[in-house]
Amino acid sequence: MKRRPIIIDTDPGIDDALAIAIALFSEELDVKLITTVAGNVSLDKVTYNALRLLKFFKKDVPVAKGCSQPLITPFIDASDIHGVSGMEGYDFEEPDDRLLLKGHAVNEMNRVIQSSDEKITLVAIAPMTNIALLLKLYPEVKEKIQEIVFMGGSASRGNKGVMSEFNMATDPEAAKIVLSSGIPLVMAGLDVGWKALVYPDDSEKMKNMNKTGEMAYALFKKYRGGSMKTGLKMYDSCAMAYLLCPEMYQVVETYLDIELNGSMTAGCTIVDLKGYLKQPANAKVCMDLNENMFREWFLNAINKCI
Ligand code: RIB
Ligand code: CA
Repeated sequence: MKRRPIIIDTDPGIDDALAIAIALFSEELDVKLITTVAGNVSLDKVTYNALRLLKFFKKDVPVAKGCSQPLITPFIDASDIHGVSGMEGYDFEEPDDRLLLKGHAVNEMNRVIQSSDEKITLVAIAPMTNIALLLKLYPEVKEKIQEIVFMGGSASRGNKGVMSEFNMATDPEAAKIVLSSGIPLVMAGLDVGWKALVYPDDSEKMKNMNKTGEMAYALFKKYRGGSMKTGLKMYDSCAMAYLLCPEMYQVVETYLDIELNGSMTAGCTIVDLKGYLKQPANAKVCMDLNENMFREWFLNAINKCI
């Protein structure tokens, strides 16, 4: 089977860890590069976490370190959700740094995309700082990007601000650059992220499934994205689910933008379902998710891991 080449831009992050696992062990995806960006925790910590995950999964994917701060908005992390380390709860082995490239993530993304025989899909599961700078520094790269599938935004309410989702609200100016780039976009926001839940019987199954499930269970005990009792939100796996099982989604093509100036709404994504702004559609937005299909898909995907 032809694998789709992807680059994952990430801020691990407990839910990032599961999304990365799913991508690394799927038969349909070819992870060419993992780039890190400040988000859930600092750049150094998310980079260390990405390297620790690759050591755990025994996968030799190159890692490139990206931006340590948003473009303009002051950086506020999500260590309250993921723990101080960003992946609290499991005692990972120390990584070897041989996978860590010397080049900045933006330059390494450009190199990988430009040298690829086929278009690359960007899977963005973090604030969009790296991707925004890629598009500004190397505008010609747009021709070689298949689409950007991102976890972020919301057509309803927020999880960082009243109306703003964490990845968008952490760097709204970067998101503005990406959303207005003209590159095909797929948004998997909170409208589906809040329904992408791992319930107690799911996490019990995972615990006894394999090493990855056992590790995930340990992380889940510290993860504050939901609760083990009422369901844990697998936000970032929603981006992988679009690539691997799109039939679980109800998707609409619409105009998508982001508010930058609202004193209470900065970082809020504008999903113009009724066309009030009279703009052409620029994104596919996942508006709903079949929860049972997600749970079955998610457990099957974890079952493919080590
Ligand atoms: O809003 C959820 C997003 O913020 C996810 O990417 C999660 O990892 C956090 O970064
Ligand atoms: Ca993330």
